[in-house]
Amino acid sequence: MRAKIVAGNWKMNKNLAETEALLAELSAKLPNTDAEIMVAPTYVNLASAVRTLESSKIEVIAQNMHYAENGAFTGEISADMLLDIGIDTVIIGHSERRAYFAENDEILSKKVISALGKGMRVMFCFGEELEDRKSGNHFKLVESQLKNVLFNLEPSAWSNIILAYEPVWAIGTGETASPEQAQEMHAFIRKTISEAFDSTIATNVTILYGGSVKPGNAVEIFSKPDVDGGLIGGAALIADDFVAIVKAI
Ligand code: PGA
Repeated sequence: MRAKIVAGNWKMNKNLAETEALLAELSAKLPNTDAEIMVAPTYVNLASAVRTLESSKIEVIAQNMHYAENGAFTGEISADMLLDIGIDTVIIGHSERRAYFAENDEILSKKVISALGKGMRVMFCFGEELEDRKSGNHFKLVESQLKNVLFNLEPSAWSNIILAYEPVWAIGTGETASPEQAQEMHAFIRKTISEAFDSTIATNVTILYGGSVKPGNAVEIFSKPDVDGGLIGGAALIADDFVAIVKAI
């Protein structure tokens, strides 16, 4: 059975005190669940978040990393630095990294290879822009994003990959893909992986949906057979909303 996951991507939000306060509230309010719960605070607060959640079920993950082991890359963070503070899962390929920091498939491929090579788990984000969907190019686009970054990996690498389908037009916009649109794309992703690798890998990989998941729509989205949870942005910053979304899984 593949893992169910609800992950909160806090992006560039919450200072140290706010981070601690939100973690305390989440720790107190989150229900017991078989799903994996993850939070991704900003870099400067990762180490303290790991300490705060030491005996908690909530896993702290990183929003990004550089592909190089170390060196002259001002402002960047390596896989080893994350592992050193107890973080072994990293988000790679978020649409904001692609759009604002020019991370293309070539760079993302290097990052994925580097993270996996260090034994980390990768949450790989991808998804189409509105124009792609309007022109009916969304399946092709998603297939190429997967192919360019993940399809050259060894089959064994897939046990450390989590996918997050995030249509760019639904991120932070309040507009969500309908549960049917999410299911249609997730099924397509599984079929594509099955063809490139095999059906066991396709069946076992966790595929999250991301893009304006809120307490009001989470139950319906998560009820779809190929949707294994969510990557949550805005609603992850409000404890009660994130807790409600976790309850929906
Ligand atoms: P959102 O963000 O929930 O605010 O749309 C999702 C994401 O960027 O992962």
